Amino acid sequence: MKLAVVGSGYVGLVAGACLAELGHEVQLVDNDSDKMAMLLRGEIPIHEQYLPELMSRNRQQGRLRFADSIANAVKTSSVIFIAVGTPALVNGAPDLSYVEAVASAVGQHVGEFKVIVEKSTVPVLTHQEIGKVMMLNGAPAESFEVVSNPEFLREGTAVTDFLFPDRIVVGADGSRGAAMLRQVYEPLTSGAYYSQSDAIPRPATFSGKARLLVTSAKSAELIKHASNSFLAMKISFINAIANICEAVGADVQEVCEGMGADSRIGERFLRPGIGYGGSCFPKDLLAFRLVAEECGLEFGLLNEVIKLNEYQRNRFVRKVRSALWNLKGKKIAALGLAFKGGTDDIRESPAIAIIQAFCNEGAEVVVYDPEAMERARCVLQDKVQYANSPYAACAGAHAMVVLTDWQDFAELDLGLIRRALRHPIVIDGRNLFRREQMLAAGLHYYSIGRPTAAPAKSSHSDSQAAVEEMLTEMRSVESVPNLSA
Ligand SMILES: NC(=O)c1ccc[n+]([C@@H]2O[C@H](COP(=O)([O-])OP(=O)(O)OC[C@H]3O[C@@H](n4cnc5c(N)ncnc54)[C@H](O)[C@@H]3O)[C@@H](O)[C@H]2O)c1
Repeated sequence: MKLAVVGSGYVGLVAGACLAELGHEVQLVDNDSDKMAMLLRGEIPIHEQYLPELMSRNRQQGRLRFADSIANAVKTSSVIFIAVGTPALVNGAPDLSYVEAVASAVGQHVGEFKVIVEKSTVPVLTHQEIGKVMMLNGAPAESFEVVSNPEFLREGTAVTDFLFPDRIVVGADGSRGAAMLRQVYEPLTSGAYYSQSDAIPRPATFSGKARLLVTSAKSAELIKHASNSFLAMKISFINAIANICEAVGADVQEVCEGMGADSRIGERFLRPGIGYGGSCFPKDLLAFRLVAEECGLEFGLLNEVIKLNEYQRNRFVRKVRSALWNLKGKKIAALGLAFKGGTDDIRESPAIAIIQAFCNEGAEVVVYDPEAMERARCVLQDKVQYANSPYAACAGAHAMVVLTDWQDFAELDLGLIRRALRHPIVIDGRNLFRREQMLAAGLHYYSIGRPTAAPAKSSHSDSQAAVEEMLTEMRSVESVPNLSA
């Protein structure tokens, strides 16, 4: 099929490359000329596993091209995916002006029947607005159908998520749109793609064929907002439980294992930490809360999820403060800038917010991230120092603080870390390490929802007394039982 994807960001690029991988002829468009120039040079503007391979092989085979205008892409395509950003405005409402701009442009060039696919995350009933704008721009009502096809990929595993989905949701109010979307995803729903010798490796848990669910357009729009809100709720919930564990000296990992073993709950997303971030959950929760308000409903639960998330970040800064006492003048090695491991995306990253809080208190922060340094530099500028390895970041630091769940960090040589640090203190906002490992390496270890680990005797001769003194201080203030402070 001939497809166009408008918007070549995290979602558009992945969707475009994956749809080409399924055998379709895909044209990607973006109004950011620098991004288009990069793509034409064969450079990939984002970090995502398997994306470079997919882009390169599908370009070589002529299935993936870059269009110079929406008009050209629309004229020659039968299905047009809208994958532009929908960031939050100051009042929390999603900015739908990018979606509107694309709908206007598409409306002007529709020609023969086309399916317009809402891939961007948008509030319920947006498909109707897209239809209206298209008609206002000259598209006859019978020349198009707007279908909602929300995207559930996660940055870091985006290509695998797209090609091996838990489900594909197609929200179509007409039979033609649903039929064309079924055809688009047929290589996944029939399993044909998975039998290709050069297919992207299949995740161990994948069942063999993708499930495609057809709903009304309204329901599909709601499925996306409801899913993200539910996942964010799971994160805030387990963070609140972690805080209770800290207050009573229990271990949240044990609690997660016990809860997650219940198939009604499931173990995924029961990962205590410094709270959710990224370009989706924060804005989608605000948008969904507004949807509820506009329906005359008070969805107070969403307020609590948002509040708990903010609290969790602040609580982590307090935890670091109680481990180090004054942050002013302290050197902190901050490992992680991306909002999660596997991506270079720093939008709404809790790591960035926490680093800014350290800087505001006068700490000297040295940062390291395997992929997100360049993007972070635009935000943090010269407020922090940039190290070229985790070990370099730790050299002479009063503590190492873990802010992103990169697998590379979980595999650090803790002996080297201990030797590099001025004081043997690690504060882990992602629970990447086990207490036993830390004790064996002679490190004082603070994590989320688990008892602090303090080696019986530190051999850091020059700092031992100071560390013990700080630990005594910390123990007296660390447990903060008030969850809504
Ligand atoms: N990033 C994710 O993990 C993810 C997952 C699921 C859904 N989503 C949703 O998908 C949408 C896109 O997210 P993203 O992370 O890819 O955003 P992004 O900011 O990375 O990409 C959006 C792209 O759209 C382009 N664009 C904007 N206006 C345009 C126009 N008029 N014509 C052509 N291009 C235009 C921008 O230049 C940009 O490259 C959002 O609604 C988001 O909520 C994102």
